[in-house]
Amino acid sequence: MGAPIPVRVEGAEHAAPLDARGRHLHDLRISVIDRCNFRCPYCMPEEQYPRDHEFLRKAERLRFEEIERLARVFAGLGVRKLRLTGGEPLLRRELPVLVRALAAIPGIEDVALTTNGTLLAAHVDALREAGLGRITLSLDTLDPDTFRAMSGGRGEVAEVIAAIAAAERAGFTRLKINCVVMRGTNDGQVLGLLEHFRGSGHIVRLIEYMDVGTCNDWRRDLVVPSAELRARIAARWPLVELAPNYGGEVARRWAFADGGGEIGFISSVSEPFCGDCSRARLSADGRLYTCLFASTGCDLRTPLRAGADDAALAGLVGAVWRARGDRYSEARSEATAAQRERIEMYSIGG
Ligand code: GTP
Ligand code: 5AD
Ligand code: SF4
Ligand code: SF4
Repeated sequence: MGAPIPVRVEGAEHAAPLDARGRHLHDLRISVIDRCNFRCPYCMPEEQYPRDHEFLRKAERLRFEEIERLARVFAGLGVRKLRLTGGEPLLRRELPVLVRALAAIPGIEDVALTTNGTLLAAHVDALREAGLGRITLSLDTLDPDTFRAMSGGRGEVAEVIAAIAAAERAGFTRLKINCVVMRGTNDGQVLGLLEHFRGSGHIVRLIEYMDVGTCNDWRRDLVVPSAELRARIAARWPLVELAPNYGGEVARRWAFADGGGEIGFISSVSEPFCGDCSRARLSADGRLYTCLFASTGCDLRTPLRAGADDAALAGLVGAVWRARGDRYSEARSEATAAQRERIEMYSIGG
């Protein structure tokens, strides 16, 4: 038997909990579906996820009303930013309906989406109208063959370029363009990607390949440390460092010295940023994870469906957050990287 399911609690301290390292709970990343139409080798390699792989069934996934309910509880505990992720979040039907509900929650200041872009053009106007504030697209390279390889043969670079144009037409500015850099695969194409987006107002973010999940055969020698990449970029276009937008920001911000725009470096391997990590993650089946590299999550769906009231849910989330000591990236070693018990990236959306 597991712990009893709380249905109602009284007298618990819910407001703005701090974790065991004094970190606030500020961002909630919500995975709405664990399926994806890509098979990126660094996330969900094709060999391990064939077309008949069993993902969560519909009844196992939180319904939109359940996600909204939990998001309200998180907002009551201090969350101000929500980010919808997947798998590929646009595989979930009617996503704008969820966006509208989340954007209306008191306390929520920012609702963002991370997507691979393939389904974006069809939905971007509705998303904008529903109150989506920001979009991040994944784009690892502009080279069509490398793109095909890095999406597991499922995607075409032209679709993402078209999605970016559609997002611009819908009124989204300062898109973030995420590029996972793998040595020997796409690191030689980073300058081309930057050149394409220089002057566009969009922000390319270069992400160090991480040892997330259990199936990507991560090796440290495949990581291009941000300092090395920055030196390569600066040899072509001088760079200047920018101050963070806010505490706990994932990307270190740099800019082209000639005014060509901003670049972000997400350096979880070479320069970990656990110190002020304020992010919680909710999986599509309603588990709360306090770290991208966690092996277990706290089941919120069971109490939710058993009729727990908001105070009980807040008590549960607050207790999990207060007990949180995660600092995986700071403690990373070859041994931790080889660990085989860990949530998959596509279950909690990065
Ligand atoms: P904003 O700062 O709100 O714009 O977004 P973000 O940078 O958190 O969002 P995004 O989904 O674009 O994150 C970029 C990538 O950084 C993720 O996909 C992950 O690869 C990585 N990342 C985000 N949060 C964390 C984190 O807490 N720990 C680690 N190690 N990596 C993270
Ligand atoms: N290392 C770094 N980033 C990753 N992402 C997925 N898997 C990895 C990994 N192993 C990124 C994707 C996307 C975001 C959601 O997470 O490229 O931009
Ligand atoms: Fe899908 Fe994103 Fe994972 Fe690629 S990184 S397989 S697009 S969830
Ligand atoms: Fe936060 Fe875990 Fe990432 Fe560190 S490794 S920044 S604790 S999610």
